[in-house]
Amino acid sequence: MCLAVGMIFYISFIALYFSFYTITPISSNSIQDDFIKCLHRNTHVDFPLEKTFFTPERNASIFIEVLESTVQNQRLLTKSLPKPIFIFKPVHESHVQASIICSKKLGIHLRVRSGGHDFEGVSYVSQMETSFVLLDFSKLRQIKVDIEDSSAWVQAGATLGELYYRIAEKSNRHGFPAGLCSTVGIGGYITGGGYGPLMRKYGLAADNVLDAKIVDANGKLLDRIGMGEDLFWAIRGGGGASFGVILAWKIKLVPLPETVTVFTVNKTLEQDAKFKTLSKWQRIADKLVEELFIRVIIRPSGIVGNKTVTTSYRSLFLGAKGFLMKVMNKGFPELGLTRKDCIEMKWIESTVYNAEFPANTSIEALLQAISPFGKPSFKSKSDFVKNPIPVLGLRGIFKRMIQEDSSSFLAWTPYGGMMAKFPESEIPFPHRSGTIFKILYYTDTEKRPSKHINWLRHLYSFMTPYVSSNPRQSYVNYKDLDLGKNKNNSKVNFKKAQVWGTKYFKDNFDRLVKIKSKVDPHNVFRHEQSIPSLPVQS
Ligand SMILES: Cc1cc2nc3c(=O)[nH]c(=O)nc-3n(C[C@H](O)[C@H](O)[C@H](O)COP(=O)(O)OP(=O)(O)OC[C@H]3O[C@@H](n4cnc5c(N)ncnc54)[C@H](O)[C@@H]3O)c2cc1C
Ligand SMILES: *[C@@H]1O[C@H](CO)[C@@H](O)[C@H](O)[C@H]1NC(C)=O
Ligand SMILES: *[C@@H]1O[C@H](CO)[C@@H](O)[C@H](O)[C@H]1NC(C)=O
Ligand SMILES: *[C@@H]1O[C@H](CO)[C@@H](O)[C@H](O)[C@H]1NC(C)=O
Ligand SMILES: *[C@@H]1O[C@H](CO)[C@@H](O)[C@H](O)[C@H]1NC(C)=O
Ligand SMILES: *[C@@H]1O[C@H](CO)[C@@H](O)[C@H](O)[C@H]1NC(C)=O
Repeated sequence: MCLAVGMIFYISFIALYFSFYTITPISSNSIQDDFIKCLHRNTHVDFPLEKTFFTPERNASIFIEVLESTVQNQRLLTKSLPKPIFIFKPVHESHVQASIICSKKLGIHLRVRSGGHDFEGVSYVSQMETSFVLLDFSKLRQIKVDIEDSSAWVQAGATLGELYYRIAEKSNRHGFPAGLCSTVGIGGYITGGGYGPLMRKYGLAADNVLDAKIVDANGKLLDRIGMGEDLFWAIRGGGGASFGVILAWKIKLVPLPETVTVFTVNKTLEQDAKFKTLSKWQRIADKLVEELFIRVIIRPSGIVGNKTVTTSYRSLFLGAKGFLMKVMNKGFPELGLTRKDCIEMKWIESTVYNAEFPANTSIEALLQAISPFGKPSFKSKSDFVKNPIPVLGLRGIFKRMIQEDSSSFLAWTPYGGMMAKFPESEIPFPHRSGTIFKILYYTDTEKRPSKHINWLRHLYSFMTPYVSSNPRQSYVNYKDLDLGKNKNNSKVNFKKAQVWGTKYFKDNFDRLVKIKSKVDPHNVFRHEQSIPSLPVQS
């Protein structure tokens, strides 16, 4: 999905921020001037200031517009969290190198944003630095598709929707295994692994990366050969903004049939009273043919006084309707799928369907900056399930869903297939063989945030016996600061970092720390859950 289901369009309260920004941070204008001077010394490619520099003092309203343009989680736009002192939009790769050199020289911390979908907003707000600059990739979004070579170079600021669209312009038999939501940025997405409806057939996006261009902590531009296999390993799943700044990914395109089939089948709590369907799904979702991907979305529905829970089975099948019916009749007859439920289409149209645009929306929607659900305010968590959840557990989940109001949901994503074929240490993303499905927990926090966040935390606690343990695993692209966070002093608390580090990366965490310590010993690239570097030996 795009994340949210049945979401009310969010209206941002710009006025709130005006009052905040009238308190001018001392000397931020002079830092900006110094930064600009330094950039000029370190690049020979010009950057028109009016299109690349945005400060709260000089252009308050445009600054807020730029800051919020790609923010996906309004929860982080509260007054209390420090915002950037200015925003720079590089228009040339050398500007990224110069930015790193200059931020080090001037002692200002840098945050990097591609698509702005970070669950905890660490690309554009900070809970550990009072002062930082935002490097926004929205002007570095070129996509070069090479069908002959089955590959593409994609700059970090491009969205998944743009990538799908550009591939489909050249071929209807090629695609890329990436996410459901078209507005996600490729820059952050691949750094965390990146899953989507082709994962059972082709694995993660990060499993299909051939090369990358990054800028390291010294401002050097490196490709795969230049950075070496350790660093190339770390950036494919070790989380964003720990090792360097990604300029572009070279990805491997995958072959697809001309026709794919999608369906959505709903069952209310009453229609699956004994959980026969959901129990069966848990037994087969990871074992069905790799061409079939069936997700489950569980959410409260109905009206006050007569509430229920609706379970939506949403599917992509890489093949035609007739073949799908055969597979379903044999493997999952409990769902009661009919030919009428099945819609045949091109893969590119299925990306529009999976992003949950209204039926028959044209594929140009993939180029839009806004998803069908607008810009919600939310809190999420994640889990991995290794044994089917018994009926007792399902009852407890559904009871809690009925108690919560209608903008909460759970998304269950099936694993197996190609996902299970990679060893856990192939890339930093370790959630492989033995995983039946992943759970995304989501609640809307626009109104009474603490009430809803508490509800989510209680549900997460209730789930403990039913999910992975030692460690209880989490998905790094679903960043969750409940699991712990770094502090801004230089003495990093390793014990704490290890807690969330092993949840996200299992045993790969140790290798990530070693690589981090080597390539960024002074922790230039840091955020609330960046990989810590071991203290520098003197
Ligand atoms: C609506 C929605 C739908 C989603 N759907 C999916 C999905 O289907 N599958 C999936 O796997 N995930 C999904 N996600 C999670 C998503 O993959 C992560 O939030 C991802 O980090 C977003 O990347 P971004 O560039 O958009 O975000 P950003 O907020 O820009 O960046 C995320 C992190 O990466 C860092 N970063 C950004 N750009 C760079 C760069 N160029 N170099 C180095 N570090 C960088 C940032 O500093 C930050 O730490 C979804 C998220 C949302 C909000
Ligand atoms: C930005 O500020 C400058 C100088 O104060 C002003 O001339 C310009 O019109 C402003 N631009 C916008 C888009 O607000
Ligand atoms: C670290 O965080 C504290 C508390 O948020 C803040 O007072 C301090 O200025 C920060 N230090 C830096 C270097 O940003
Ligand atoms: C399934 O349920 C969702 C939410 O309740 C609804 O939006 C959608 O139209 C339903 N789909 C079908 C095929 O019934
Ligand atoms: C409650 O809703 C269900 C559908 O979710 C419907 O079948 C049933 O008739 C409703 N009951 C009442 C009393 O409205
Ligand atoms: C979408 O288009 C198909 C065929 O082009 C048509 O059968 C269907 O009714 C349309 N759906 C909607 C909701 O307009």
